[in-house]
This record gives sequence, structure tokens and C-alpha cells, in this order.
Amino acid sequence: PDITFIAADGTETGFEAPDGVSLMAAATGFGVAGILADCGGSASCGTCHVIVDPAWADRLPAPEPVERMVLETTAVPAGPTSRLACQVHLTPALQGLVVHLPERQV
Ligand code: FES
Repeated sequence: PDITFIAADGTETGFEAPDGVSLMAAATGFGVAGILADCGGSASCGTCHVIVDPAWADRLPAPEPVERMVLETTAVPAGPTSRLACQVHLTPALQGLVVHLPERQV
């Protein structure tokens, strides 16, 4: 799907990502700044924090308990639409997804 990351300073990065990969893998693969993903995608570091655009928040599957726990440890406190990008898997249904990046990940 086509996805767009909006940095804290408003810079937008949009690109086409393959289905089946995580939002984190898509972002790091494309070179989006601001996703550290220190743990490599195992839902433990909290440095792939993204804030899903409110228009999209209800269209993602709900986070698993482990994701919710790690979201309590992010550098910028998580908001109601925050997710770990490594736990969001891209599907055709997410065509047009927009997510925002926090000011920092550590
Ligand atoms: Fe570490 Fe997502 S990459 S929690």
C-alpha cells in the first residue's frame, strides 16, 4: 500500500510499501528517519513508536497486550492512537495509511 510518514517537523515521506511486511520494516527499508527499531521488531524496545493518524486509528487491528505494555515505555508518552510500527502489518486495506512520528524515540 501507499503509506505516508509525517515527521514531528511536518516533513512528509510517502512511498509504496509491500504487503505483508511490518510498518517498521517498510519505514527502515525506505530510510524514513525517526524509526530506530533497536530490538529489530520484537515488540520490546519501544523505539518504533508511531502515532496513527486519527482517520486511520480504527482501521487497524487492536494492539496485543505486549504491545500495549511496551507503549507505556516510549520516550514520548504514547497517546490513544500510538502503535509500535513493528506490530502493524501492511495489507491492501491500509492503502493510504498516514502515521505521525514522535519528536524522539529515546
Ligand atoms: Fe522494537 Fe518495534 S522495533 S518495539
